[in-house]
Amino acid sequence: MDLETVFEKNKSWIAERLSTDPDYFTTLGKGQSPELLYIGCSDSRVTAEELMGAGPGEVFVHRNIANMVISIDLNAMSVVNYAVDYLKVQQIVVCGHYGCGGVKAAMQSADLGILNPWLRNIRDVYRIHREELNAIKEEQKKYDRLVELNVKEQCVNLIKTAAVQKAYRDRGLKVYGWVFDVHKGKLIDLKIDFEGYLEDIMEIYHLD
Ligand code: CO
Repeated sequence: MDLETVFEKNKSWIAERLSTDPDYFTTLGKGQSPELLYIGCSDSRVTAEELMGAGPGEVFVHRNIANMVISIDLNAMSVVNYAVDYLKVQQIVVCGHYGCGGVKAAMQSADLGILNPWLRNIRDVYRIHREELNAIKEEQKKYDRLVELNVKEQCVNLIKTAAVQKAYRDRGLKVYGWVFDVHKGKLIDLKIDFEGYLEDIMEIYHLD
């Protein structure tokens, strides 16, 4: 990437925004009140706002390898708590994607150094759903299914947080699980049973 052109493109972008709304940056500078928290993969092909047709100010974004929500990850937990408690987002989306390198790596036997503890969380997802996954004979289908199940388990991890439990009770915040199909550009709603999971896990994870 030619970094010189980045600044040229930025100039054209400013001009384009101002041509449709002369107050665009004045409004943007006043603050943010996004209604959606998006947690996705760092993969360069899965461009959070762009694939949703959203613009600046509309989505609070957190991305990491394989869209993980890990309770001792200070970064992810800070994002969730800030978005839920201060920005008062109404929805949280965990968006995985087919062809995820992180998920693929977790399916293989390889020592990947510092990535080992991170990917172990995906191996844990595999272990929880081992029966279903082992029954899938075709490797590609198994891989796709693990991407989906990983999204589901990260949604469950969100529901385990006090912030999400409180916000659901107080204002009906909900968690959604999506998958982005990089081969077609299509966003797929996994239609996870948010209330069902909530009810199921509250017996053990009830915090508030
Ligand atoms: Co990925």
